[in-house]
Amino acid sequence: MKHWTLEDIPWGRFDASRVDPEIVKVVKAASMVEANGGDYATYLCNVFHDDPQFQAAARDWAVEEVQHGAALARWAALADPDFDFDACFRRFTDGYKIVVDADRSIRGSRSGELVARCIVETGTSSYYTALMEATDEPVLKEICRNIAADELRHYKLFYVHLKRYLDLEKVGALRRLLVALTRITESEDDELAYAYYATNEPSASYDRKRYSRAYARRAYGFYRPQHVTRGVAMVLKAVGLKPHGRVNATLSRFVYRFLTSRSQRLARAGA
Ligand SMILES: [Fe+2]
Ligand SMILES: [Fe+2]
Repeated sequence: MKHWTLEDIPWGRFDASRVDPEIVKVVKAASMVEANGGDYATYLCNVFHDDPQFQAAARDWAVEEVQHGAALARWAALADPDFDFDACFRRFTDGYKIVVDADRSIRGSRSGELVARCIVETGTSSYYTALMEATDEPVLKEICRNIAADELRHYKLFYVHLKRYLDLEKVGALRRLLVALTRITESEDDELAYAYYATNEPSASYDRKRYSRAYARRAYGFYRPQHVTRGVAMVLKAVGLKPHGRVNATLSRFVYRFLTSRSQRLARAGA
């Protein structure tokens, strides 16, 4: 069940004078990744082939992710009337493919898959909250508010199923931590980099490092300490560690420093 629709967004309040062109670039890229949610649901349904309860949840989840893509794309087209979502999405899906026909999780277990899903939803819920607070454009603010609320619900959804599978599979905290760390480092892999490339510089040739840095430069700059603290708590919870306390405080300081210094360094380097 969707918690909002495109009709709930106050499109008439769009204010071109408050659009930051750097934000438009990352919104276009995000619209690609979100719109690709259907393929990920197919993969999840294959991994959880004998679990109709989870499959139904994964299909509903994908409908919401695809709607995130549609809302962001519609906003990006208001901000940049030359933005051609369909052409960009074709380019994106031609160049970046999710392997959907797996019969087991690439994370080694279903619990591992669910930890990875929790990490992704942690990332998106923190990101859209940070973007909501970073933008002055009222329509984008409203879109991000709605998306961030969905992403938090998605985290809770995957976390509930994770608890169920942990009872069956007994995957330890160390293994879960490894999956989480692996998934976090993958955020600089092809998916976002290719989405940034396909939407912003399609006539150049693709260079993962270059476009990963271009995306990171812009996206990492939105985060404030409170977003990082909350994100770290969600990651710690997903791997079975205490969400708040000294570990969170230490990690949050480190992560926040990493994000801001990387964004500033990449900006100085012209990424
Ligand atoms: Fe999403
Ligand atoms: Fe999500």
